[in-house]
Amino acid sequence: MPIEPHGGTLINRQLEGKQKEKLEKKAGSLERKRLNTRELSDLEMIATGALSPLEGFMTSADYRPVVDRMRLGSGLPWTIPITLSAERKDAEGLKEGSDVALVNDLDEVLAVLHLEEKFSFDKEHEAQQVLRTIDDNHPGVQYLKTTGDIYLGGKISLLQRPAHEEFHAYRRDPRETREIFAQKGWKRIVAFQTRNPIHRAHEYIQKCALEMVDALLIHPLLGETKKDDIPGQVRMACYEVLLEKYYPKTRSMLSIFPAAMRYAGPREAIFHAIARKNYGCTHFIVGRDHAGVGNYYGTYDAHYIFDEFNPDEIGITPLFFDHTFYCRTCEGMASSKTCPHDAQHHVFLSGTKVREMLIRGEVPPMEFTRPEVAQILIADMKDAQ
Ligand code: ADX
Repeated sequence: MPIEPHGGTLINRQLEGKQKEKLEKKAGSLERKRLNTRELSDLEMIATGALSPLEGFMTSADYRPVVDRMRLGSGLPWTIPITLSAERKDAEGLKEGSDVALVNDLDEVLAVLHLEEKFSFDKEHEAQQVLRTIDDNHPGVQYLKTTGDIYLGGKISLLQRPAHEEFHAYRRDPRETREIFAQKGWKRIVAFQTRNPIHRAHEYIQKCALEMVDALLIHPLLGETKKDDIPGQVRMACYEVLLEKYYPKTRSMLSIFPAAMRYAGPREAIFHAIARKNYGCTHFIVGRDHAGVGNYYGTYDAHYIFDEFNPDEIGITPLFFDHTFYCRTCEGMASSKTCPHDAQHHVFLSGTKVREMLIRGEVPPMEFTRPEVAQILIADMKDAQ
């Protein structure tokens, strides 16, 4: 039996046929609400079931317990608010109980929101609870500053998917990944979330995990990330070359996770895990400072948060990894759990150091990154200069 989606049913809010035609006709005359990049990602993920059991943007009945207790109104675990914000003056023109056309930057109608509720919320409270900080330097706090003061809650009906220029072959919905897993006969699948190029530490934990299960889904997040993160196209080129050269083709797969990054550390680790369950994965890798940024979270906070839930409620099994590195004395990849030597034996390069090397066109040591990946990153840095 494949793993159940969160809440038991894989949601599908994509309209087809007559229903679609009917709503499309009506949509032209509806009030309009433009979505930002994060909201567009959320819209697509709600519609395709990646965020099951959500059927729309949260009303206060889900939003408040999610923020305060990490649970939906139904009691099901959920850690990240999925919300649609509006400026107060714009929200005034929208009536609860009516339909609102959701549009992109080009003013094309992508979906309809069946507006159930407009509600105010406290940004500081949300930031403190979800991000564990109200510091303006946190990208999630910065995002909240750009949003309106009212949330619009209600189910959505998708008419047209947000457009993606690239990587169509890697954009697989939960229904599709589930089908592929079944066809390949993979029963135990571990998902790997990433917003970075894959370095040796990533590769090591992926392959340790793969020793324990049938297959590995490399599931890079390709929604909005902060400006200084490496762009999606560059990362995809890195993933492709690695998969081609270093991963078993019969037991690994690359597919895109279209979510926007929240940088919410521990809470986002639970969110990432639950979404991957919806894609049909049974296991999920959580390493050091998962979904972290700066020094806002403890190195293993994203492990500890799983203890706050009953494992059956989360459903997908987390595989926790300590900080991993190459140890010159062990002569291999290791972690603080497996290596008895102190830090001077380890190859450690800070993000800044690596960036400086790449800008100079220098390939970092093999023990840190595969040269094929380094070459792609160096070429990208050259282009950017
Ligand atoms: S994240 O924001 O997607 O978490 P990143 O792409 O760097 O960032 O990490 C992907 C996954 O690898 C996360 O689970 C993270 O905890 C883990 N990870 C990254 N670097 C290491 C490391 N050196 N040791 C152990 N786990 C790591």
